Amino acid sequence: MSDNLVDFMLKLLASEIDAVRKYVMYSCILLDQGYTSIAEVFLEESKDEVDHVKKLQGRLLFMDAAPGYDALPAVIAHKDVASIIDEMLSAEEEAIDMYHEAIKRASELGDYGNVVFFQEILTTEEGHLEWLRTQQYMVKTLGLDGYLQATHKS
Ligand SMILES: [Fe+2]
Ligand SMILES: [Fe+2]
Repeated sequence: MSDNLVDFMLKLLASEIDAVRKYVMYSCILLDQGYTSIAEVFLEESKDEVDHVKKLQGRLLFMDAAPGYDALPAVIAHKDVASIIDEMLSAEEEAIDMYHEAIKRASELGDYGNVVFFQEILTTEEGHLEWLRTQQYMVKTLGLDGYLQATHKS
């Protein structure tokens, strides 16, 4: 087992926990503003992120490492939907970069079990990114009012 890989997985764990709290918080903010369907998707995505937290913690325990993490930075709660989408899109891009790095590190170690493990999570993150890109495109093309109408479910 590489301490280097474990340290990197602890960073991944912190970033997944950060994603959980942001998706939940933004789901509440968006629901409050009437963006009901995007709020529902954010809540569902928070569950995917919880699943990633569980998987990483389980994997760290399997590797005989303690699945702890440092204090997380304060969250800035954006209120407008365009900034929320932009922020989560950047968070997903960062997560994807980190999983690529984790895959690279694991393959350099010949640790193919972890390569597969990281690849599975990476696929989910790519799905999140794709969906957010669609939302960003819709906001740009429809404008905020049009996007609200297109995504509102009563
Ligand atoms: Fe994730
Ligand atoms: Fe994600």
